[in-house]
Amino acid sequence: MYKFTTLTALCSVALAARPFLNEPDTGIELILGTDNLTTLPPLSNVVGLPDFDFIARQHLAPENYTYYRNGAAGEWSYRNNLEVFQRVTSRPRVLVNVSQVSTTLGTTILGQNFSAPFFICPCARGEVGNVNGELGLVQGAADGDILYIPSGYSSTPLGELAAARVANGSYEQTMWPQTYLTSNDTETQIYFDEIAAGGFSAIVFTIDSAAAGVRHRADRFGAGSVNTAFDGFTWEYYEKLKTMTKLPIVLKGIQTVEDALLAVEHGAPAIVLSNHGGRNLDTSPSSLEIAYEIHEQAPQVFNQTEVLADGGVRYGSDVLKLMALGVKAVGLGRPFMYANIYGTEGVRHAIERLKFEVMNDAAHLGLQDIHDVSMKHFKWAPNFWYS
Ligand SMILES: Cc1cc2nc3c(=O)[nH]c(=O)nc-3n(C[C@H](O)[C@H](O)[C@H](O)COP(=O)(O)O)c2cc1C
Ligand SMILES: *[C@@H]1O[C@H](CO)[C@@H](O)[C@H](O)[C@H]1NC(C)=O
Ligand SMILES: *[C@@H]1O[C@H](CO)[C@@H](O)[C@H](O)[C@H]1NC(C)=O
Ligand SMILES: *[C@@H]1O[C@H](CO)[C@@H](O)[C@H](O)[C@H]1NC(C)=O
Ligand SMILES: *[C@@H]1O[C@H](CO)[C@@H](O)[C@H](O)[C@H]1NC(C)=O
Ligand SMILES: *[C@@H]1O[C@H](CO)[C@@H](O)[C@H](O)[C@H]1NC(C)=O
Ligand SMILES: *[C@@H]1O[C@H](CO)[C@@H](O)[C@H](O)[C@H]1NC(C)=O
Ligand SMILES: *[C@@H]1O[C@H](CO)[C@@H](O)[C@H](O)[C@H]1NC(C)=O
Repeated sequence: MYKFTTLTALCSVALAARPFLNEPDTGIELILGTDNLTTLPPLSNVVGLPDFDFIARQHLAPENYTYYRNGAAGEWSYRNNLEVFQRVTSRPRVLVNVSQVSTTLGTTILGQNFSAPFFICPCARGEVGNVNGELGLVQGAADGDILYIPSGYSSTPLGELAAARVANGSYEQTMWPQTYLTSNDTETQIYFDEIAAGGFSAIVFTIDSAAAGVRHRADRFGAGSVNTAFDGFTWEYYEKLKTMTKLPIVLKGIQTVEDALLAVEHGAPAIVLSNHGGRNLDTSPSSLEIAYEIHEQAPQVFNQTEVLADGGVRYGSDVLKLMALGVKAVGLGRPFMYANIYGTEGVRHAIERLKFEVMNDAAHLGLQDIHDVSMKHFKWAPNFWYS
């Protein structure tokens, strides 16, 4: 027993000592080199989502890349969001008939059908990567038939996003505009009415941004947050907001089991577990850790509201790990902003690559239906949660 404990301790030291890799070593620089990529390489070079990060870094002006890339302060949360998934290993079951798994990617979120259990997170300032702002994200999401949550600080105005929304035969694109809100209720009412009139089907209220993010990397390059006010919002205020619109108001930025329970108590139709991509409070937990805390302490939450989650998702297996805990769909921010440098084509490529990974990883886990993924498909080692 003593020896076993020592070995475990040594192993965790060894794991902790692993250098951080923003992208894994898959040889991309042997193909694309490390010089400035003034012209974008063909999308066939992008074999996985991390490749979009590499290309963005080599292509964009440093201050532009920094706006997308930066995390809060020492960027521990940014790194942890990426690294947490590798602390949970898989338990693949074999000799299961998985021949139909690729037909099971479809997922319903708030009563709407999508082709995959992942969505595009709200990220401000699409113009930093593409002169067409968010238009490539709108069309790409429609082509890939996934949910897009445009940021309240999108470069493309809400009216133009509404006009770009694809309605094609029986297909009506679903988008949920995100907002931080101001303390001016008249302004909020006007905004809510505009959202309803634009044909959008929910509002996402981001509540993890009560103040400016402390962002050293961004400050160095003059690429800080657009949202810097000290908020005066409360749970009572959320009750009031609900009377101002017929649309469901989704709460984005839940980081503790206590707040997940309060969201349920206040009737939130859906919540997004998120530490804002590690951009606001450094050392805030990854959504995998938040989902795990809820699963341990109040698992009923996953039945009482629709739980979504984002942060650091880059691979198919990341999506499945969050789903195993009860998360319905998983959001990605940076990968889609980097993909949008290519516009619609890039966004579509990103969606295709991630669908490919989710279905193939699910098959390797022995899942006939991706929605059957559960805790028993992974090993939740005690040191997966850093505490
Ligand atoms: C460049 C950038 C801008 C963002 N802007 C917003 C925003 O306007 N509203 C919001 O709710 N979240 C915003 N976020 C957070 C994302 O919605 C999401 O929580 C986060 O990006 C997920 O982590 P990931 O980038 O590792 O996938 C932003 C994130 C990035 C990277
Ligand atoms: C690449 O070159 C472009 C155009 O000259 C420039 O704007 C950009 O800052 C450069 N990017 C990097 C990463 O050096
Ligand atoms: C596996 O499932 C497919 C589709 O349901 C079916 O056609 C096939 O016969 C199954 N294979 C075996 C060995 O049962
Ligand atoms: C969603 O898909 C289900 C099952 O395929 C179907 O019964 C339902 O009508 C669809 N809902 C919408 C809103 O299209
Ligand atoms: C950098 O961002 C600015 C807007 O902040 C934009 O005008 C410019 O085109 C972007 N540059 C590149 C190379 O994407
Ligand atoms: C409309 O839908 C059809 C059939 O799904 C598709 O072929 C076509 O490209 C779509 N048009 C647009 C503008 O999305
Ligand atoms: C609140 O917003 C409305 C609509 O934009 C504006 O007319 C009004 O002056 C604002 N009130 C305050 C106190 O800023
Ligand atoms: C959640 O709902 C499922 C399906 O109805 C049920 O089997 C499970 O026990 C519920 N879990 C909790 C914790 O309430």
